[in-house]
Amino acid sequence: MTCDDEQAKEEKGRSPDECTGEQIRKCHGEVQHPCTTSYKDKGLKPGRESCVEAEGTPERATHLPEWFVPVAEDVFNYCRPDQGLWVDLGSGSGGLGLALARGSCSTVVFVDSSAKALSDALENAKQSGLAGRARAVAGRAESLPLASGSVNLVTSRGSIFFWNDPPRGLREVYRILRPGARALVGGGFGSSYPEWALEEFRRRRDKHIRAQGRKALHDWYEVRRPEWLAAQAQAAGLGEFLVKPVPPGFWLLVEKGTG
Ligand SMILES: C[S@@+](CC[C@H](N)C(=O)[O-])C[C@H]1O[C@@H](n2cnc3c(N)ncnc32)[C@H](O)[C@@H]1O
Repeated sequence: MTCDDEQAKEEKGRSPDECTGEQIRKCHGEVQHPCTTSYKDKGLKPGRESCVEAEGTPERATHLPEWFVPVAEDVFNYCRPDQGLWVDLGSGSGGLGLALARGSCSTVVFVDSSAKALSDALENAKQSGLAGRARAVAGRAESLPLASGSVNLVTSRGSIFFWNDPPRGLREVYRILRPGARALVGGGFGSSYPEWALEEFRRRRDKHIRAQGRKALHDWYEVRRPEWLAAQAQAAGLGEFLVKPVPPGFWLLVEKGTG
């Protein structure tokens, strides 16, 4: 499949003929973590001190590195999506969808139950120069307003834990996939996210949840387990699926059969 998106061509300055679906990363270069790029530019090794030095911010710990690019890298690796229409479900303000759009020629559709999240996502797309390849659709996972077999990729990060009916949402994800296309649903930071930043994130998150009481902490962890995610996929009746741990996160990888 070739990428015939003229705007993407202009953004990337490459011939669309180079943009074959199986060669997204080759075609557009490695998707770089901005922080990692800084390390490399300055000849530094990844690590907390290097990051402080690279960015020149002694209060580095208040600004943890952005995680959507590492997650997008994992999406490309696990899903190998064809170019076309990609959906980020429960997109929030568009972080993952935009990282995916930046590393491809595809059009990303943000789907979220919150109108505010969608308007933030579109504004962020505009700010990033990606408005031409970003769309927003209001809807719930449990009843996706998209045609069956119409999309080349579905991602969903940090959202399934809030769905009213996760198995029903997963059936909908499967329904909208084109035959042979994959979905990655779950939560995490990406396998290249720096360990020190993960630790710091966990520390802050636990402090925040603990402040809401023991039950909140229990409930939070109850659904954020690979076993919970596998149980939702089973309840959805998805024949074949894989739960991939990418500590401290985990993802459900589903491929729609071609038969
Ligand atoms: C924790 S945020 C995650 C946002 C973004 N994916 C990220 O990684 O930062 C969860 C998002 O899921 C959305 N959401 C919750 N339940 C939903 C549902 N049933 N269908 C669609 N979106 C939903 C919320 O509005 C919110 O934007």
